Amino acid sequence: MKILRSIWHWIDDRTGLSETIGPLARHLVPPGAKWAYVFGSGTLFCFILQVVTGVGLSLLYQPSSEGAYESLKFITDQAAFGRVLRGIHFFGASGMIILVGIHMIRVYITASYKYPREMSWISGVFLLFLTIIMGFTGQLLRWDSNGVWSSVVAAENLGRIPLVGTTLARLLIGGDTIGAQSLSRFFSFHVFLFPALIFMFVGFHLYLVFRNGISEPPKAGRPVDPKTYRKWYDDMLKREGVPFWPDAAWRDTMFGALVILAIVGLAVMIGPPALTQPPDPSIVNTSPAPDWYMLPIFALFALMPPQIESFVIFVGPIVAVLSLLALPFVSGKGERSPIRRPWAVFGVVCVVIFVGSLLVVGEIEPWSPRFKTKPLAQFVHYASPKLQRGTVLFYKKGCQYCHQIKGYGGLKGPNLSAIGRTWTANQLAVRIVNGGGEMPAYGGILTKTELADLVFFLQMQK
Ligand code: HEC
Repeated sequence: MKILRSIWHWIDDRTGLSETIGPLARHLVPPGAKWAYVFGSGTLFCFILQVVTGVGLSLLYQPSSEGAYESLKFITDQAAFGRVLRGIHFFGASGMIILVGIHMIRVYITASYKYPREMSWISGVFLLFLTIIMGFTGQLLRWDSNGVWSSVVAAENLGRIPLVGTTLARLLIGGDTIGAQSLSRFFSFHVFLFPALIFMFVGFHLYLVFRNGISEPPKAGRPVDPKTYRKWYDDMLKREGVPFWPDAAWRDTMFGALVILAIVGLAVMIGPPALTQPPDPSIVNTSPAPDWYMLPIFALFALMPPQIESFVIFVGPIVAVLSLLALPFVSGKGERSPIRRPWAVFGVVCVVIFVGSLLVVGEIEPWSPRFKTKPLAQFVHYASPKLQRGTVLFYKKGCQYCHQIKGYGGLKGPNLSAIGRTWTANQLAVRIVNGGGEMPAYGGILTKTELADLVFFLQMQK
């Protein structure tokens, strides 16, 4: 016991640990900062979990185009705890993105970004984008067909930015085409560059929390006035403040533990996302589907008229970043209570609904053919061999990838469940032979009998 104490005294004397940690732990925070305030530290817990599991994964992962897919398969199927480790890293990423989002909404609703905490908001905006970039670069490291195609899409989109686009795209993939060098680049980005930036910004973000104090819960009719705020805040702390540890920090600790438990639970029960096929440039039949948190962005571009896409890819992110960065300067003082800022609350609700609907649409993917649809033939009762041939052709010739009948098939083209009611055989044949819009022309692909069988099948759809 005595030895331990003298060891501690030695360490403390040489490092000044307790002089540093003590005041941080005991510093006063406003009372009433209740459960709404746990999401920032929750995000931090997720980030730490990502660092730990990421280091674990990097011990076995091979960042080379020959080795990546195989090493991930090895991690998932054979390595001890590999499946759970990948699972935690995946659900940890999802958790981090959700919590960053909630934290940001909370800060916006309680207007905690106002004086003197503008820099907290600004560093937070950078952290938001860094988190999204980490999610994206992480998906590419899977280097399965999904990962490779997603990086192709990203590089093509970057390339459309005027003037600097080509340079940016080359910077991203390390050349003119996706290849071995692209993967080592994504690996460096995901493992060195962006985590280092996140550490920096997190450090700065936390330093600011200690310097400016946690924002007190807002109260209607108590606006922020930069001239008097700091003095008012200090007096309020002296009167009513509670020590950060343990009065406020126990909630953060509890919530962080719950978050980690939930992530580990999901990782054990559901496991990491399955690897799709190994990348093969000759398979164009894949529809690259990014992880869920990228779907809203994916959906936005899929739904946008193609003419404005290049413009939006360039202008959209700039407008988004600038308006987020401008927020604390545009409304840096005044009322903080959401009751007095109904339009701000309304705006947040709109954004959440918008992003949420994009997420749902991205999940359904009506714009891309559905290659996994089940052949209708299994569900149809055949009145004649002709009808049977038509039904089989409808699947075999790919019509069903884009057209739904009786609930089966893709949504890219119109639903054909009742096409026989309004279209004549001749009209149908002309339409199929000529294609048009986003439908391929089948004139050279189908034989005369096949066309007749297909038309017959469609006429039966009433
Ligand atoms: C790549 C997706 C795709 C494939 C494959 C496809 N279609 Fe289409 N189809 C469409 C689209 C999109 C439209 C609407 C085009 C437009 O008018 O702009 C359409 C329109 C049609 C129409 C007219 C329906 C209407 O209400 O306007 C018929 C009939 C039709 N397709 C039949 C077929 C048949 C039969 C096949 C297979 C031989 C087939 N399609 C394959 C995408 C597809």
